[in-house]
Amino acid sequence: MTVHACGTVRPLPEDERPVPLTRAELAPEDWRDYDVAALHRTFRDKHNVFHGPAFTALDRIQVHPTDDLALSVLHTHESARVSAWPLSLHPALADQVVQTAVAAWLAHYTLTPGPVVVAGFDEVRVYGPTAHVRRALVRLHQADDLGCTASAQLATADGTVVAELHGLRVTNITPPTERFAARLTHQEWVPAPLPEQRPRATEGSWTVLTTEDSSWPAELALELKKQAADGRTLPLDTALGDPAALTPCTGIVLALGDEQPGDAPNETTRRTVSHVVALVRLLSQWDRPPRLWVISRSGRAPLTTAAVRGLLRSVAYEHPELRAGTLEFTPQQSPYPGIVDELLDDQQPLSEIALLPTGRQVAQVLTGPGTATAPAAGSGAEPVRPGASYLVTGGLGGLGLLTVGWLARRGAGRIVISTRSTPTAEAEARLRTLRGADTEISIIRGDIGDPSVAARAVAAAEGNGRTLRGVFHAAGVVEDATVANLDDRLLDRVWRGKADGGWALHQATADSALDHFVVYSSVASLIGSPGQAAYAAANAFLDGLTTHRLDNGLSATGIHWGAWSEVGRGQHLADQGFLTISPTDGIDALERILTAGHQQLAYSPLDTAQWTAPYPALRTSTLLTPLLTGEEAEQDEAAVRDQLLAADSTAQRRELLEAFIIETVRELLGGTTRHIGPHTSMVILGLDSLGAVQLQQRLQRALRTELKPGVIWVKPSAASLADWLLDAMGLGDDAEGDRSHGPGPSAKTADPTGHASLPS
Ligand SMILES: NC(=O)c1ccc[n+]([C@@H]2O[C@H](COP(=O)([O-])OP(=O)(O)OC[C@H]3O[C@@H](n4cnc5c(N)ncnc54)[C@H](OP(=O)(O)O)[C@@H]3O)[C@@H](O)[C@H]2O)c1
Repeated sequence: MTVHACGTVRPLPEDERPVPLTRAELAPEDWRDYDVAALHRTFRDKHNVFHGPAFTALDRIQVHPTDDLALSVLHTHESARVSAWPLSLHPALADQVVQTAVAAWLAHYTLTPGPVVVAGFDEVRVYGPTAHVRRALVRLHQADDLGCTASAQLATADGTVVAELHGLRVTNITPPTERFAARLTHQEWVPAPLPEQRPRATEGSWTVLTTEDSSWPAELALELKKQAADGRTLPLDTALGDPAALTPCTGIVLALGDEQPGDAPNETTRRTVSHVVALVRLLSQWDRPPRLWVISRSGRAPLTTAAVRGLLRSVAYEHPELRAGTLEFTPQQSPYPGIVDELLDDQQPLSEIALLPTGRQVAQVLTGPGTATAPAAGSGAEPVRPGASYLVTGGLGGLGLLTVGWLARRGAGRIVISTRSTPTAEAEARLRTLRGADTEISIIRGDIGDPSVAARAVAAAEGNGRTLRGVFHAAGVVEDATVANLDDRLLDRVWRGKADGGWALHQATADSALDHFVVYSSVASLIGSPGQAAYAAANAFLDGLTTHRLDNGLSATGIHWGAWSEVGRGQHLADQGFLTISPTDGIDALERILTAGHQQLAYSPLDTAQWTAPYPALRTSTLLTPLLTGEEAEQDEAAVRDQLLAADSTAQRRELLEAFIIETVRELLGGTTRHIGPHTSMVILGLDSLGAVQLQQRLQRALRTELKPGVIWVKPSAASLADWLLDAMGLGDDAEGDRSHGPGPSAKTADPTGHASLPS
């Protein structure tokens, strides 16, 4: 016999009656409504819980704006009443109390998907008949992404409390191995044969920008000339110095040069990244920007190509109008007609393409760990060899210090930490607890991008007969800026620890017998991150380094981490409603990844659909489509355009559009309850450069009209922006005027906020 639950029944003392709910508790004024249908949808889609009709008699749920409280208006469903009379508390009613608790949980926490069950409760108190219960007031006592505990009071419509539930426990029961596996994704080159018929733009003028003295860009330009109206080459430096030299132009190809023997790839790549940033900035200012392609010869500039790819994945969020794609090709018998076919396909979605002797492929992010695995290193299946030496760069930072702690717990004999600054008292105290009879911990101060510092750190790890078995490269600087505000100084700061540091470590460990060379990359380089183009490029350089090492038979593990909670630079993402990695969970994942021998993958609970939602143009990117299938691609936003077209007067249209802009801004600002009137400045409200990009893209999609982000800085209120948009759509006061010639007033205004407040 299996006992699932047991309990004790005892009478309540006569005088033990809770105080009735107050009028304010029965009908709170400023609590927000929680959509009951959406609750059931989330239960079903994300948590495998299905509710029959008897369990859906919730009339309304309201949640407190900040506290973990929810109030529901509910009743016992008719179909449940038949059997209700002998029950002190009908299970269907109790279940609705659980649903109310889950509403409070969902309203303030981001939950890990997976089956959720009631794991138990401490006590149910019944004070009177419960058939007429009309309110449930629920308070959460503890909650995280995997579970919550709550208590509830059940009351009649006049507030008399007739029952209470204490110590209710609701838990996600997904086994840890499944939870780990569900958070893995990886990038793969997937065969993508050509459709038989391809749409083709036969007119246009193309410019191939060159960065070195090589013949292939000229051959490509010649082929373009043969097939399109015009094709020519122009040195990139000339174009950047004299933008007028680029016009007229419908398409731009940036031809990446090959890496040369003797080059320091970290330095040449940083220069190229800086040039691409300048080019993107320049082109995005045009009224009708050309499409941008970056093309390289496969295998000839792998690190530069990887970094530029990472950069453009972030550019895709900020400047979808450039539809900036990458193409790699293998030098073979005349590859140029094939490349030109790709370029002239004007319906080509945002893509990363490789034209290889084995066929055409596109890069895609797929779920799971991928197939790239190495035999587990270390002693047996243990990722850390007892007594061996390990080097952790950025080892006093958030993720670095956790890694140091884990290595010490797993028996590392020596841990060398590389960092630039002196440890804080707190870090010192933590290190004292980790140092033990079997584990030495030392600190090498200096910039890990400096090869002599990297050499010193490796020497410290290998001194006195220790063998360096693992490098964990967690050094890095996170600094955000939209491309419009990204300058070389910021790029250098971000590049230094990560990319220069990674390359210096690669060289300094050339003679070491490493089990692991682990780089802490980010999902920013895998799926892109708005406002983080420099950071994404530096991480992508590390991704390229991981591939380069693996191609050369060296150990390498590249982990695109999602944001962590409690430590490090990604904590604020939790406040924005994204699921984050807890320290325990992240270290568990690190151990699983190394034990399994996975080589290049992402560990992230990030919901890609949620992440890309403000950037509708990304939904067609071939990189991301596998992660977005099944998600609602179209939202109901287009309805506003129909309403505008159907409205009788300009005044009515203006009112409709102002209301739509205000609601969109409110949403972008995280549902602020501050007053937003038609003349309130969105900039003063806190809309930053990235918010402006998001607003621009939403409006552009909903209204199907062109709008540059810069317009928002010169028309910063709902009223002025609505007027501008109505004019641009030919629906304003001068609606009779001819609007067929262009997208409306041009605004090439710089973003005055100068920065983006964004995720790491
Ligand atoms: N936290 C996350 O959610 C997250 C997500 C994805 C990826 N990552 C990656 O994981 C790594 C660690 O992130 P974190 O959040 O723990 O960051 P963090 O707390 O800022 O730690 C980074 C550490 O790197 C050190 N550092 C920076 N530049 C250096 C240089 N040139 N030489 C030596 N040390 C340098 C910093 O110390 P000094 O300034 O004293 O040198 C700092 O202690 C980063 O590479 C980050 O990109 C983190």
